[in-house]
Formats: sequence, C-alpha cells, structure tokens
Amino acid sequence: MKIREIYDLAIASGIAADPRGEEAVRKELAKLNKTYDKLDDDEKEFFDVESLTNPYADSRILFGDQDREIKKLICGVDMESGEIAVVAMLNSRGVNIDLIWSHHPEGGALAALPEVMKLQSGALAAAGVLANVAEGLLDQRIKEVDKSIGVVNHFRSVDSARLLGIPMICIHTPADNLVTQYMTNLMRNEAPDTIGDLIKLLKEVPEYRFSAINHNPPRIVSGTKDRTVGKVFVDFTGGTSGPKEFMEKLSDAGISTVLCMHATDGMVDVAKDMNLNLVIAGHMASDSLGLNLLLDQVEKRGVEVVAGSGLIRHRRD
Ligand SMILES: [Fe+2]
Repeated sequence: MKIREIYDLAIASGIAADPRGEEAVRKELAKLNKTYDKLDDDEKEFFDVESLTNPYADSRILFGDQDREIKKLICGVDMESGEIAVVAMLNSRGVNIDLIWSHHPEGGALAALPEVMKLQSGALAAAGVLANVAEGLLDQRIKEVDKSIGVVNHFRSVDSARLLGIPMICIHTPADNLVTQYMTNLMRNEAPDTIGDLIKLLKEVPEYRFSAINHNPPRIVSGTKDRTVGKVFVDFTGGTSGPKEFMEKLSDAGISTVLCMHATDGMVDVAKDMNLNLVIAGHMASDSLGLNLLLDQVEKRGVEVVAGSGLIRHRRD
C-alpha cells in the first residue's frame, strides 16, 4: 500500500465508526468546504486544506512522499525520538521499516488536538445530553487543553523522522473511534448486569487481559462491583478527557455507567457525587485495541506490521 492509501483507509474507517454518526460528520465536512470557498486568498494561505476531506485534525501524514509504497511499518502508541532512533537502528540491521505510525499525535497534528475535542459534544448529544449544554461545557475545557498544548515542542519527533529520512504518520481519533464502536457493541450485545460482570467481560478481551496480567487491570473508580450497569456511555474518543461536568450531564441524561480509557480526578469526584459508575478500562489496552482494528485491515492488504512503544498487538479475523 502507498502511504496515502494507508492514511485514507484509516480516515474512512474513523468516519464510519464516528460516535456522532457518519452523516453528521459528512455534513460538518460539507459546511467547512463552503466556508473555505468563501475565504480570501490570504486567509486560504493559513487554512489546513487537509481538513476539507479529513475531519480528524490529530491524524496526518507528518513526513514523507504520500505515493511511497510501504511493505513494512512499525506502529506504536507514542513514536517519539527514542523510538524513531530504535527504528533507525533496526533498519541499519536490515529490518527495512519504511513507515513510522504513531497513535498519539505529533507535529501540527499535536498542536491541533483541541480541534478533535469538538467530537465529544456530538457524542454526548447522541447520548441524550442537550447539544448547547455539552458545547458550552466543552468550550472551556478546549481552551485549557489548547493553552497547555500550545507551548510544547510539537515538531520534535517529526524532525527526528525527517532527519533520518523515515516517513511518519499519526492516526489518533480514527483508532479511538473504532475502539469506541467496538466497546459500545460489546456492551450492547453482552449487556453485563453488574459492574463486576462488566470488568470480567473486559478481561476476556485480549488487550485488557494482557494489561490485567501485567498489573494494570480495568479499575472501578466510582461505584462498586455489585452496582447495576444500566445504560452505558463509552467515553473513549475525542482527543483527551472532557470537562468533569460531563459526568453530571450524562447522569441527568439517563446514563448509569461511564466506561472510559482514562479519567481526571475531577471526573471521578463528580461521578462519586452523582452515584454514577465510572470504570477506567485502561489507556494502553484501549489505544491498542483501536489500532489493532485498523492494523488488521492494513495487514490484509499485504503490509507487514511491527508492534512497538506499548502497542499490545492482537490480530482478529
Ligand atoms: Fe491515547
């Protein structure tokens, strides 16, 4: 596959699994295209044209010719300079890795992480929270994340890849959408009665099983194993953790259990106050599951996949 084909497959898969629904995403893209057409030339100069077809600003081809044919790629949760140096060492030993795939965003895609957080209000609206309330609460949290990410050295890892001449991509929200869809279906199909049953169910999934064996099991941070699961909201995508107030609004909308990858202390406190069950599935296991669902598709098309940097690789049929 060419780099562009791998990237396009990931974006298309992310759209198909988007918690807002595919139609809402397409509508958003059409609106953005109209906005772009009306911009002046000097405004167009600073417009990220990739966003006209890819709704996920945290997922991009970061370095390399998009038409380059890829035979073997390495995928990891965080591919930073250390990991990139390892790739160069492997290549000097004849391993021939021709693409670095990071899950967590780097370069301009890292600077754009707050952009994808907007997905969260759409996901909450789909779960029954008033859209205006979700949007209002999210605005403040986006500003916080934007402020903290704005000062970091975004291009550090991409520069390492560029200096070593190894193409690099990052695919974040599409993979997180896929694990969200997988978990939502699992909860719907298996319908665990108690939080204890839910934890047991998670531990049957290979990625979580590996984490649990390695002392990082799914955790109940609000509620107990005897509590009733009720209606579940899977909070696995949208860049990073949302505002803590989302816990209260989800409870008001009839949600009994929030299943997330990771949670802030504020989210845990609010969940406890609301008697809302909050379960942390685990960050690396959840990121791995989302990536695995994409990597299986890439492997089927003839690309060899090497796992690194925390990726718990498990192949599914
Ligand atoms: Fe992550």
